[in-house]
Amino acid sequence: METVTTISAVRERVHAWRRAGERVVFVPTMGNLHAGHVSLIEAARRHGARFVASIFVNPMQFGPNEDFAHYPRTPRDDERMLAAAGCDLMFMPDVAEIYPHGSERAARVEVPGLSRILEGEFRPGHMEGVSTVVAKLFHIVEPDVAIFGEKDYQQLTVIRRMVVELCMRVEIVGAPTMRDTDGLALSSRNQYLTPAERKVAPVIYATLEAAAGRLRAGDAQFASIERSGFQALEGSGLRPDYFSIRRADDLTAPSLETRALVVLAAARLGKARLIDNVQVTRA
Ligand code: PAJ
Repeated sequence: METVTTISAVRERVHAWRRAGERVVFVPTMGNLHAGHVSLIEAARRHGARFVASIFVNPMQFGPNEDFAHYPRTPRDDERMLAAAGCDLMFMPDVAEIYPHGSERAARVEVPGLSRILEGEFRPGHMEGVSTVVAKLFHIVEPDVAIFGEKDYQQLTVIRRMVVELCMRVEIVGAPTMRDTDGLALSSRNQYLTPAERKVAPVIYATLEAAAGRLRAGDAQFASIERSGFQALEGSGLRPDYFSIRRADDLTAPSLETRALVVLAAARLGKARLIDNVQVTRA
């Protein structure tokens, strides 16, 4: 595996592969890789001949009071993990390479409707930061396929919409959420939890599953299910931002007829803010 830090070096490598007729699969990350990321890498290997990963902690998607400065950075471990997983190229740019005029003055990509709801309501600017950096990375890598985790369901939905709206050529593939044995979705932010908080954290997935169970059983009292979920999180000592049932395709409010649903939750626990979701198909 080769590690490069410049846009021109990525282009040179990828253009050579493309001239040789090889497909390129791309997995963007912020590093500090865990088994959830590795599952995307395994999915990537099924989709193409050449595999590129990026590691970039993107300042534009962090709010002023968020954890940009403290976000865990473990580049040497990440490099080892990617090499072991069969990655061909690791792109690890610095901020100036991606934002030559600073992230405040960068051209932006926004997906109206999807960017400002849910995560966008509680983390203003976050979704624009994600779509902007992913658009830039797509222009740099020009992959045939890019893989994103369903763990960040709204992010995946925003990227899918952006690709359609901006006529991008890349195919977007979603990969299932990897969880610890007690159900907690793997996340770099789980490291912020104290041992006591870590014991409580699986309640997020348990509560989402309880809501999904009611929906699967035919309960269509969406508001009541949302309220119970929110209160269950509060009752366990979390500070939920939302607990919301949405249409799985576009995250708008479902009707009684909607079959494909997703239940999404975000909650603070100590220093961490955790998100998770469960998809439900109704009969
Ligand atoms: P990051 O949080 O590093 O996640 C990189 C990718 O790994 C995302 O597609 C995310 O959904 C996926 N992922 C994280 N935890 C997972 C889990 N437990 N199971 C399966 N997949 C998981 O998401 C980002 O970075 C950034 O927003 C990024 C897209 C790189 C743009 O900056």
